[in-house]
Amino acid sequence: MDVDIHTGGLAAVKADALAVPLLQGHAPLRELDELLDGQLTELREGGEIKGKPGELTVLHHLPALGVRRLLLIGVGQTLDDEMVFRFAGHAARAARRRGLLHLALHLPGKEGGDARLALEGVVTAGYQTDAYKAKPEDKYIKKITLSGLSGAPKSLAAEAHRGIAAGEGVNLGRELVNTPSNLLGPEEFAARARTEGEAYGIAVDVLDRAALEALGAGALLGVAQGSARPPRMVRLTWAPPAAPAEPRLWLVGKGVTFDSGGITLKPGKGMEKMKYDMAGAATVLGAIVAIARLEVPLRVTALLGLVENMPSGSAQRPGDIVTALNGRTIEVNNTDAEGRMVLADALSYAVREGATHLVDAATLTGAVSVALGDINVGLMTNDDAMADRVIAAGRTAGERFWRLPMDTEYLEAMRGDMADLKNISGNRKAGTITAGKFLEQFVDGRPWAHIDIAGTAWDDKGQPWRSKGSSGIAVRTLVRLAERWTES
Ligand code: BES
Ligand code: MN
Ligand code: ZN
Repeated sequence: MDVDIHTGGLAAVKADALAVPLLQGHAPLRELDELLDGQLTELREGGEIKGKPGELTVLHHLPALGVRRLLLIGVGQTLDDEMVFRFAGHAARAARRRGLLHLALHLPGKEGGDARLALEGVVTAGYQTDAYKAKPEDKYIKKITLSGLSGAPKSLAAEAHRGIAAGEGVNLGRELVNTPSNLLGPEEFAARARTEGEAYGIAVDVLDRAALEALGAGALLGVAQGSARPPRMVRLTWAPPAAPAEPRLWLVGKGVTFDSGGITLKPGKGMEKMKYDMAGAATVLGAIVAIARLEVPLRVTALLGLVENMPSGSAQRPGDIVTALNGRTIEVNNTDAEGRMVLADALSYAVREGATHLVDAATLTGAVSVALGDINVGLMTNDDAMADRVIAAGRTAGERFWRLPMDTEYLEAMRGDMADLKNISGNRKAGTITAGKFLEQFVDGRPWAHIDIAGTAWDDKGQPWRSKGSSGIAVRTLVRLAERWTES
C-alpha cells in the first residue's frame, strides 16, 4: 500500500475519497464547511448528521474538492487512539465497498502515533473473511493520503509504514483463527509459524511429540492424546544483535486448534466456534512477526502450545492424574479445562529456558465473557509493573484490558484431592480468576501477565471497522508492549 502525506489545505487533497471525522456536539470543521457552502452546518442543524460513533454520511457533488466522494464519519465525543483506529478502518471499508481505492484520511492536529493507528486501521479493515467463498473480494485500498497531521512528513510516513507492518501481523493472526480446524491442526499451524517466522529473521524451533515426551510435558500431552493429530510446541526467537541480554520476554499462546471438550464433551450448539481456541497462539505469532518486521531491539520469544482436544478411545479421562513439565501433578477432573493444561507446560518450559518476563494469551474461560463481555480483555498478573505495562500499551493501541484480582484465597478451589492441583474448581465462582491462579503455579514467581481473550477474540457480528469472525485483539498491544520496553 502506498502512503503519502499531504501538507496543504483540504481543497488540494487529490484522491478518490476523502474521509473526515465528525465529533459529536462540536461545530463541523470550518475549512470544510466553507468549501461546501455551509452544507455541513445545514446537515448538522437539520439533525441529519450527529457525529455518533459509526455514523456514515456520503456526499457526492463536490465541485470545490479534488475528490469524488466525501465520507463523513461519526467518532463520538473525542478522537482518541481507539477512535483514530476505528475511524480509519470504517473509512477504508466504506471506500473499498464503493470502489474508491485511493483514500485520503483527514486527521487534524494529530501526530505520528496517529498516522500509525490510521494505517493499522486501514490494513486490518482490508482483511475479509470470505476466503472460502466462490468469489472473494478482490479490490483493496491501494493508496492512502494522510492530511492534517502535524510533524515532519518523513517521520509521519515512517510511522505509517510501521502501522502497515503491525496491521499485517494482526491479519496473519486473524487468518489463522478463521481457518477451519480441518485445514489447520497443530502440524499445519507449526508449519505456517515456521514459514512466517523464517521470512522475517526469527529462529524457529518445532518440538514434536517425542521431544515433548522427553521434556516431560505430561499436561499438554494428556490433552493431545485423544486426537489423531499429534501436538507441536513451536518456539520462535527474535534476538537481534542490538538487543540487551535482558530482559527476555516470552509470549506464550494457547493453541488448541479445536476444542471439542474431550470426554467432557461440549454441547453441540456453537461448538463450531471452537476453531478459534488457538487465538492465543495466533496472537503471539502475529505479534512476534510484527516485532521482527519493526526490528524492535528486545529479546522476545513466542511459544505456541498446539494441540487438538478430542474425545476418543485414547483420550484422557476425567480423574486422570498427569505430571506437568515442572513436576507438579494435576487431576484432570474436566477434560474441557484443557487450555490451562497446555499453558502449564508451556509456561514451565519458558521459565526453564530462562524467561525473565512472561505474557500469555489464551481463550481460556467462558466466564471472562460473563464478567467483561466483548469490551475488555481480562488481565491477571502477579506483578503491578506488568499490569501497568500491558494496560498502557493497550491504551496506545486502542485496546482495553481490565485487571482482575488475584488474592491467594482464589487458589484454594484449585488444590487437588489426590494431586497437587486439580484443573477445575468444584464450583462456578470466579472461573476466570481460578484459572489464572492455576496458571500462576507454573511461572515460578517471575513477573507474568495472563490475558484471557475468550470474550474478545471472536466478533460474532462484525463492526463498521472490521469484518466478523476473528478480531485480532491484543496483537497490536503486544507489539507496543515490546516496543515501549526498549524506551524505558
Ligand atoms: N476454550 C474454552 C473457553 C471458552 C468457552 C471460550 C466458551 C469461549 C467460549 C476452554 O477450554 C473451556 O472449555 N473452559 C471451560 C472451563 C471450565 C470447564 C472450568 C469453560 O469456560 O467453560
Ligand atoms: Mn475447553
Ligand atoms: Zn479451550
